[in-house]
Order: sequence, then structure tokens, then C-alpha cells
Amino acid sequence: MSEPTRILAVDDSRSTLEVLKRNLEPEGYEVYTCERVDEALPLLEDLAIDLVITDYRMPQATGMDLIRHVRANYPDMEIMMITGYPSIPGAVEAIKDGAGEYLAKPFTTEELLSAVERIVEKQARRRVFCSPATPPDNFGIIGMSPEMDQVFQRIGKAAATDANVLISGDSGTGKELVARAVHYNSARRTASFVPVNCTAIPDSLVESELFGHVKGAFTGAKDGRAGFFEIANGGSIFLDEIGDASPNMQAKLLRVIQSKEFCKVGSSRVHTVDTRILAATHKDLRRMVDEGSFREDLFYRINVVDIRVPPLAERGDDVLVLVNHFLNKFSKAMHRTPPRITDEALAVLGGFGWPGNVRELENLIQRLVVIVDHDPIDVADLPDPMRFCLSSVSGGNRSLADVESEHIRHVLAMTGGNKTRAAEVLGINRKTLREKLKRMEGE
Ligand SMILES: Nc1ncnc2c1ncn2[C@@H]1O[C@H](COP(=O)(O)OP(=O)(O)OP(=O)(O)O)[C@@H](O)[C@H]1O
Ligand SMILES: [Mg+2]
Repeated sequence: MSEPTRILAVDDSRSTLEVLKRNLEPEGYEVYTCERVDEALPLLEDLAIDLVITDYRMPQATGMDLIRHVRANYPDMEIMMITGYPSIPGAVEAIKDGAGEYLAKPFTTEELLSAVERIVEKQARRRVFCSPATPPDNFGIIGMSPEMDQVFQRIGKAAATDANVLISGDSGTGKELVARAVHYNSARRTASFVPVNCTAIPDSLVESELFGHVKGAFTGAKDGRAGFFEIANGGSIFLDEIGDASPNMQAKLLRVIQSKEFCKVGSSRVHTVDTRILAATHKDLRRMVDEGSFREDLFYRINVVDIRVPPLAERGDDVLVLVNHFLNKFSKAMHRTPPRITDEALAVLGGFGWPGNVRELENLIQRLVVIVDHDPIDVADLPDPMRFCLSSVSGGNRSLADVESEHIRHVLAMTGGNKTRAAEVLGINRKTLREKLKRMEGE
């Protein structure tokens, strides 16, 4: 369990402090209170406060003085201003500049909880994004989510044995990285890792590509050539996109996997081979077996250990860790300091559905590092599909509720149905989203 969020409330009105305490404590927040700014300063120093809620007008030092003190000394601390005077010219802007959030008195419990939850989520997101500077290195694969932990455990187990491995997952999820991780952490690491793209080999060349050929084996074969299996002897062969292998290729693969023997094209000499099979696919091989388009015997030969690589959208905060990782990586390659990124842009990236998975995210961040020449990166710098998801709703003569419903549906689609992320992007808490969805169902 993570530590509770610690809130320090500063207000010269005792009744406001009591309202805050009464509403926030049942939600699991730890709430400290004091009535004067000068009393607040030592508490800030001692209590590891996450969020300061302060009144604007107080006798002696004002809320603005407190904000300046916090900004100068505690960069990670969030501030929320409550004010009874939202109409004073410039006050709201000044408050927003320094405080990020403000709440006008009188406020409802729901308004208070929404604002606090928004701040806490933003803070959590930024903490994940910023730390650790070098993410934990699991075989060179970035990820801290429980979903990726399972993948890492499987990789560890597979690397310790010599069993064949089937890696499945959508396009761009990192299947090849996983295959390399298994090989380079196995006893075979000093021999070759040989990638073979099963889609790219025309049927007429399958045999000579896999097993090689001898000189003069066919017209144009001026020299002999080693095949993939010969090169992978002692190491691992990576059969990428195995679901696309033709029936002919499937038959040839099955034979060499079973017998550990092959002949080069144009020769009857039998070679023995010792290689481990790592195969990958974005297709559902089991379904293909049922439908008769993939050989069952081959399937069982390669699917001894199976590793499923989850889509990026299922990896929670890993998105933010990866954004940070790629920002650093591409900036370093260009000898630049990594650009900063606004909380709003971070919320959009964190809430996006990422149909192209890690590859899409990697490409986007690379483009941003190359193209954006200002700092920080903001929502306007993100590609249209992401921004339009946020702003595609046009008004016309529709009701507010109608426009709101459509926007909520858009954001949900963008986050792949993930309500927590949708709520983050919408800037409301999950409870509010749930209520709105319920209302929409009744429409
Ligand atoms: N967890 C990760 N940490 C760091 N980089 C990653 C991670 N996952 C994927 N990548 C990077 O994303 C890109 C795509 O990964 P990879 O080629 O392994 O995906 P794939 O599943 O094989 O995709 P495809 O199905 O399209 O072949 C690569 O540049 C890879 O280095
Ligand atoms: Mg691949």
C-alpha cells in the first residue's frame, strides 16, 4: 500500500478547517491544520506534506506569501488556494499561476474532493514520470507494472531452461525484445541469435533460406550458402511472425525441429543442428489450429513455454515511465537536455489507447524530440488524433449534457475503455465519471 497523502490546511477560519478535515479524512487523507502562515512553516519542514490547502486572505501573511514560500522551497509540493473573493481582478489568475488549483468558497464536498483528487492524481503521475531517473533494467526492457513483472518472470524461467518459447502479443508490444532477452540470458548467449521473418520468405526459397544450399544446387547458385539453422547452431533461432508461415514452411520447420537434422538443397548429406526455437506471433495460433490453417503438431512443438506480452494500454503507469525513458534516450542521442512536458500533455499521453503500442509511443517521442523546438512540450504539440479526441466535440444547437456525453464517449474510446485514465483526461474523479456514465445509460 502506498503512503496516505498528507494535507496541510491553513485558514484563519476554524470552521473552514473543520469542514476540510471532516470531508477529507474519511477519504483516507491525513489532514493537518493551522490557523496562521507562520505556524505552517515548521509543519511544512517536518511533516513531508504532499498538498497545502490555503486560504487567500488571512491576517498577517497571506496565502500568496505561503505559496511563494512553498514554490521556492518544496518543488514537489502541490498547492490549492481557497478563496472567498474569486472576483477580485487578477486574483484568480495569480492564484492559478502559483497554486495550480483554486476553489471558491462556498464549495460543495464533491467540488472539494474532485479538486483534491485531481491534484493527487497529477502528482502521482508526475512522480511516476520523473522517477526513477534510470528505470529498473529487466533484461533491458522498461516496465514496472505487475503485467510486465509477469513477463519478466517468464523470461527468467525460459532463459534458465532450453525449452522452445512462443511469444504472443500485438504489433509493437516488444516481442522481439523478449526473444532477445531470453537468448542473451540463456546458456546459449555466446552463440548466435538468428532472426527469421517468416513473412518475408517466398515459398520457392524456404528450403534454401532455412537450410542453405551447396554450390550448383540450382541455376545461379554459383557458391554454396549456409542457411539460418546452420548459423543458429548452438544458439537460438527467432521465427518471427510464425503465424504467417506457409504450409510448406510449416512442414519443413516441423521436420527440422523433430529430427534436429536437415540437408542443404542440392546435397543428401545430413547435418545435425542444436538450436533453440523462439517464435513470435501477433495472431491467435490456437484459433488458427482450430481453423486448420496452422499445424497442431508444430504448435505443440513451439508452444512449450508461452509468454504473452500485454498491450501498452494494459500496463498502467508504464506509459509514463516509457515516455520519460524515450525522452531521455532520444535527447541524449541528439546531445540535448531532455525537454520538459506539461502535466496536461502527460495526462493525454497517459490516457491514450496506444493501438500501435510501444513502437507508436517510441516513434512519437522521437518525433517530438526532433521537431518541437520550444520547452515544455504541451498538448498542442501532440498529433491530431490525440488532440482531436480531446476537442472534437462541436457545439451547434445541442444541449450541454449531449455534448458532455459525446466527449466522455470519445475519451473512453481513446483510453480503450479504461475509466481511471478517462477520468484523468477529463479532469474529474472516478466517482463523478461513474455517476455521469450511469446518467448516460439512462438517457
Ligand atoms: N518495454 C520496452 N522498453 C523499451 N523499449 C521497448 C519496450 N517494448 C518495446 N520497445 C521498443 O519498441 C519497438 C518495438 O518493439 P519490438 O520490435 O520488439 O515489437 P514487436 O512486438 O516485435 O512488434 P511487431 O509485432 O510489429 O514485430 C522497438 O524499438 C523496441 O526496442
Ligand atoms: Mg517484431
